[in-house]
Amino acid sequence: MKERLLSLKEEALSELSQVENQQQLNDLRIKYLGKKGPLTEILRGMGALSAEERPIIGQVANEVRGAIEEVIEAKQADYNAAETNARLAAETIDVTLPGRPAARGAVHPISKVIQEIEDIFVGMGYTVAEGPEVEQDYYNFEALNLPKNHPARDMQDSFYVTDEILMRTHTSPVQVRTMEKMKGEVPVKIICPGRVYRRDDDDATHSHMFTQIEGLVIDKGIRMSDLKGTLLQFVQELFGKNTQIRMRPSFFPFTEPSAEVDVTCAMCGGQGCRVCKHTGWLEILGSGMVHPRVLEMAGYDPEVYSGFAFGLGVERVAMLKYDIEDIRHFYTNDLRFLKQFVHL
Ligand code: PHE
Repeated sequence: MKERLLSLKEEALSELSQVENQQQLNDLRIKYLGKKGPLTEILRGMGALSAEERPIIGQVANEVRGAIEEVIEAKQADYNAAETNARLAAETIDVTLPGRPAARGAVHPISKVIQEIEDIFVGMGYTVAEGPEVEQDYYNFEALNLPKNHPARDMQDSFYVTDEILMRTHTSPVQVRTMEKMKGEVPVKIICPGRVYRRDDDDATHSHMFTQIEGLVIDKGIRMSDLKGTLLQFVQELFGKNTQIRMRPSFFPFTEPSAEVDVTCAMCGGQGCRVCKHTGWLEILGSGMVHPRVLEMAGYDPEVYSGFAFGLGVERVAMLKYDIEDIRHFYTNDLRFLKQFVHL
């Protein structure tokens, strides 16, 4: 029986030495160590042995089993390691590969100019106010000293929704709404950026929808010189230190006196060029001292308080700043146009 065991060991070890893959190893494990294998069979037959022989054969049988198990385990460890290595190799990430660049958007030039102008005025202590684009006739016109049938309403051809509701034609209604909210408190110091709508035929310089920024200051003792100083500071921050302004008398129903404000042409520095039509000046905003009637309607005593207001077109500023020749570029979303502003 001892010889049988030893030859079984020989046979098993020689077969194991030729194992080539996991499947063959599994098969041999079952063949030699399984319940129906020769080793189990021999151990089961030990009952027939004499009491002296039994421990000796038992010991040999255990040694044979141990030797076979040892080889199988060693092989199994090799296979496990090989499998782990293969998986690690397959899952390797090449950190030196160049990444796939994410498509990068750009801030729209109109948003960019709004942000810039907001920054300038916030730096001067203003806060930013907003209001609805669909507005009541009262806020858009009446409270701004433009009663029904006032001829100056024709200055701003409007899109009416109903008799009393329209798309706001300027951001001035935000002035009125802000004054109403402040209930006579001072100082009022706001700018209001936003979209406005006018019945206009679209062309290179006109759009039925565009963007305005309006400014309003109310306090005791606000004078025209405050308006001028504020605007000069503003345009010099926006267009450069050497920019000058000039004020021309004008008319708005909600300001008195009113002034149209020109800046020296940023393209030619005032020398005269195509952009300024050889005048050296560019008109950029409307302004004036808040009309006493407007103050009164909003609950401010015009004998005590005074204020100034101004309004500018953001598209016009953006067109000047970035030398854009057609206002329609801002709304047609042509990527070739928009991508030029990625680095601003
Ligand atoms: N609201 C005027 C417009 O749209 C601009 C303006 C604002 C003029 C404030 C004077 C004062 O034309």
